Amino acid sequence: MQTAHRFDHIQESVIREMTRLAIQHDAINLSQGFPDFGPPPEVMEAAIDAIRGGLNQYTITWGYPPLRQKLAELYTERLGWEVEPDQHIVVTCGVTEALAAAMLAVLNPGDEMLILDPAHETFRPGVRLADAHAVSVVLESPDFRIHQEALEAAITPRTKAMILNTPHNPSGRVFDQEEIAAVIHVVTKYDLVLITDEIYDQILYDGRVHVSPGGLEPLRERTITIGGFGKTYAVTGWRLGYAIAPDTLARALKPAHDFLTICAATPLQAAALAALNLPESFYEQLREDYHHRRSLMTEILDDLGFVFSQPEGAYYILADYRHLPIPQAQWDADRFARWMATEVGVAVVPGPNFYANPADGEGLIRFAYPKKLETLEAAGQRMARYLKG
Ligand SMILES: Cc1ncc(COP(=O)(O)O)c(C=O)c1O
Repeated sequence: MQTAHRFDHIQESVIREMTRLAIQHDAINLSQGFPDFGPPPEVMEAAIDAIRGGLNQYTITWGYPPLRQKLAELYTERLGWEVEPDQHIVVTCGVTEALAAAMLAVLNPGDEMLILDPAHETFRPGVRLADAHAVSVVLESPDFRIHQEALEAAITPRTKAMILNTPHNPSGRVFDQEEIAAVIHVVTKYDLVLITDEIYDQILYDGRVHVSPGGLEPLRERTITIGGFGKTYAVTGWRLGYAIAPDTLARALKPAHDFLTICAATPLQAAALAALNLPESFYEQLREDYHHRRSLMTEILDDLGFVFSQPEGAYYILADYRHLPIPQAQWDADRFARWMATEVGVAVVPGPNFYANPADGEGLIRFAYPKKLETLEAAGQRMARYLKG
């Protein structure tokens, strides 16, 4: 008996493996990016009310109509074109499904897709699902900037699409105007489709404002804009996201979603509408809370001797441990991360996991800090015991 070769070289997600190790060794889990605090109470109530109120069957494949109506209003403003709820929006089972559907919609077997490394671990397997090839462009640590020449050097006659994640996991970058201009130049010059992953659009620091690339004139006709609910509203287990695309792209995207999952969970879509109706003060508080978490996490890591850049958005720090005053600082990242989970009692993700060429991520580990301050303090105390030499 033989199985397909599609996933021959793709193993279990290292991030989720680290979560398993954390549970097994009672480690504080700073590996997988999910909050250890709950969603807003009114959002939970809306989910319960939806179940009790009878919203328990399939929705229309593209999503619960009032949710799509609300998304259409928000994205018409954000993208600057008339987003129609019935034509341009698909509500999905998480950003992961939106990405898979977008890749299946855009890529033919053998096509190439540009991915900026370090990259979230969903991207490469998504390209494989479409029997296409991921081509990496490495953003050099520690500033992780996009350079037009590096993008152009990766283009071949098979290049069909590019994925851009901003705010960026795991670097914490929010790509600036000059970098987005480089993306616009390359995407338009080489006739590519752009798929954006904007799951951290509400988690920004120091007064930064999120700009959806798909709203910029040259990209409007060629961008699939993807967003999610899991991170902003602390409901990663609800598996809810969405994709928004202009006519031609939407026509290909919709059947991909339909035959992957039919629809996302109906009562949770109703609760997602309640989330989108939260007042502006919710987002102000969210950003204030994340500023506190970022300050505490950077203070802890600075004090221990990690080298890293301050996150501009999202909730991760990709830190270099090679200057710590301990013998383990000479270990490779995989061994170091396993030691952190099993001995130190703080689970993190080894940097090579985010690169096509694992050597590019050596010496780095990723911390996720969507956690209560007391969780981060406890992690700091555990690390202080082992990492100070
Ligand atoms: C950049 C990025 N994209 C996608 C995902 C997965 O999103 P979802 O849980 O909505 O499938 C994550 C989760 O950490 C992420 O960081």
